[in-house]
Amino acid sequence: MVLAYSGGLDTSIIIPWLKEHYGVEVVAFCADLGQGEDLDQVRQKALASGAKDVVIKDLRQEFVADYLFPMLKSQAVYEHVYLLGTAIARPLIAKYLVEVAHEYQASAVAHGATGKGNDQVRFELGVMAWDPALKVIAPWREWDITGRVEAMEYARRHNIPVTATKESPYSRDQNLWHISHEGGVLENPAVPTPQDVYTWTKSPVEAPDAPQWVTIAFDQGVPAGLDGEPLEGLALMNAVNELGVRHGIGRVTMVENRLVGMKSRGVYETPGGTILYAAHQGLTSITWDRETALFAQTVALRMARLIYDGQWFSALREALMGFVNEANRVVSGNVTLMLYKGSVTVHAAVSPFSLYSEDLATFDGGQYDHHDAEGFIHLFGLPLAVRQRVMRRGGRH
Ligand code: ARG
Ligand code: SIN
Repeated sequence: MVLAYSGGLDTSIIIPWLKEHYGVEVVAFCADLGQGEDLDQVRQKALASGAKDVVIKDLRQEFVADYLFPMLKSQAVYEHVYLLGTAIARPLIAKYLVEVAHEYQASAVAHGATGKGNDQVRFELGVMAWDPALKVIAPWREWDITGRVEAMEYARRHNIPVTATKESPYSRDQNLWHISHEGGVLENPAVPTPQDVYTWTKSPVEAPDAPQWVTIAFDQGVPAGLDGEPLEGLALMNAVNELGVRHGIGRVTMVENRLVGMKSRGVYETPGGTILYAAHQGLTSITWDRETALFAQTVALRMARLIYDGQWFSALREALMGFVNEANRVVSGNVTLMLYKGSVTVHAAVSPFSLYSEDLATFDGGQYDHHDAEGFIHLFGLPLAVRQRVMRRGGRH
């Protein structure tokens, strides 16, 4: 069996459990999505936990180019707040889980998501999209270990290296785009977010007192440079993350609706992603006409839901990307932003495809004929005038 392996407690105990309950050899597959772990240590831990082999794949470039940036171009945001950092990573992990399973001629794949969450759905839909015949094992839905304390006990009995003090009360998931925090005291939405939960960004309170101005270049909706220097995807992500971390940008706490029915409270840190979303939005404000911008909001809502629900490889997602790519053909240019104590604000945007016309918008003369507005208002307001007359005739005001 091939197991989607992270190096954490939850997936480490799965290795001996699979061997014991299914009598199989276990290959641990770990995707490098920029989670910032020492992957050599992850490899050692998998082997020490009884894996027969470990496969580590550096998927960072593909993650940025084929997942994060297309999502950014769509402006997908889940329930107004969540920039989907975990949801967008799962399909990519699933795709390579299937590839590794084929390489090893595995009889099944396994993952460490619980039976209560979204991730089980995302992993399994991802696997189904690439090999519907491949069996998926989800130990958290089968065994009777119910929480972290029991998991640690199981680990001790099976000589799995655990650093009990290092195990935090929070469940976390980190990659190039974000880190999520769930569980522990966060599960009570009446309790304000404890400040010790954050692990990545600086507190806005401690961020520099001076604002920092940055300019981000886009080419057809894809971030392409920073402060005049061309950068490709991965380097650019790292650079904007550094900026966001320094200025305390991208921290949110929310109660979200999980696909599987319950509400859950979570904290997210998305430093660079928050900057890029603001910048992209700033550029579309001058390059998209009103109707395109409105329709893009509808598409963004639908995309967010598709991504959240693990439907990245669906026909609808691909079809919607047709609109997204077409609309982004004009999203080229430069956006200047101010980063200051947790906030990112757009201050200027330029584009060769800008629809903005100073001559039309200016308060000082220009080529706009004021008289055209009169007839327009008469027709635009006609239904209001008709309604008023009808209501008055009917004795209602
Ligand atoms: N609630 C978020 C989501 O569904 C984050 C999930 C985090 N997953 C994890 N295994 N820690 O996308
Ligand atoms: C899990 O349940 O494994 C993590 C949270 C989620 O998938 O929503």
